Amino acid sequence: MERVNSSKKIDPAEVVAAGESCNSIAGTREVVTLRSLLRSTRTGERFACLTCYDATTARWLQHAGVPLLLVGDTAGEIVLGHPATIHTPLEFLITLTAAVKRGAPQTLVMADMPFMSYQADDAEGVRNAGRFLVEGMADLVKLEVDQSFAPLVAKMTRAGIPVVAHIGSRPQHAKAHGGYFAAGKSAAQAHQLLEDAKSMIEAGALMLLVEACPEEVTAEIVRRSTVPVIGCGAGSSCQGQVVVLHDLLGLTNWQPAFAQPEVHMGQQIAEAASAWIERVKSGALGEHPYAMPETERARFMSSLRTPAADVRR
Ligand code: KIV
Repeated sequence: MERVNSSKKIDPAEVVAAGESCNSIAGTREVVTLRSLLRSTRTGERFACLTCYDATTARWLQHAGVPLLLVGDTAGEIVLGHPATIHTPLEFLITLTAAVKRGAPQTLVMADMPFMSYQADDAEGVRNAGRFLVEGMADLVKLEVDQSFAPLVAKMTRAGIPVVAHIGSRPQHAKAHGGYFAAGKSAAQAHQLLEDAKSMIEAGALMLLVEACPEEVTAEIVRRSTVPVIGCGAGSSCQGQVVVLHDLLGLTNWQPAFAQPEVHMGQQIAEAASAWIERVKSGALGEHPYAMPETERARFMSSLRTPAADVRR
């Protein structure tokens, strides 16, 4: 059954052949691998990354050509309505990661390791990261770190787990900071960030993600880095850029300056819901798709006229 509405720009028939389920996809583009993404950044190409939490959206984002999807712990806020990412459950995020990969099998999928899935114990962290690869079918795992996590990143790397080191502002540390914070705003903090980046690369991280950091600090991280750097509110020097999809779609109440909406889907959802309310009230539901065969209809009608008749014969 076709489950996706057509739009002016995109023909759903290109995306899903008739009869395919909403979780399958027509193979319309080359598979993005870690190797192909790293290769393209070496030639100076920049790449986009968006958060994604479900198979249907993943399918559309793959169709649009997004090479890297992040199943972020922001799912706890966006999908579950929690006030902060520390509430995002591990099992839930593994389930979402697998859903996103099913929706976008040709796209690189990065899974976010939630709060307390790797901080308490290195062995537990390695095992949980492995679960994201095996059960969640993730291509990469991302964890919020500083220099002190280098031994853990090295253990994950040794185990064959591709790690993206999220440095700079770390929302999982918001409680410890008394709220969300920008990173690297003093010279000392900026130098600490350069150290964090260096130790993560030495420990084997295949990419860095820098969140909420002044332009000049990020630029120096990028200049020194031997691996691609993804920015999230960290300026334009990075090879990759990520934002929360729901900000870009205008579904959140507030968006940061670097993630201004491209569309206002919140308003569109409200308009579609209002139109549905009107259709329900007026009974204008479109042509009814389910009909009885004429003989059964006649039998049914006649049975209504003679209630005692046994219609099962
Ligand atoms: O969880 C998330 O969405 C993130 C991005 C905002 C970088 O970590």
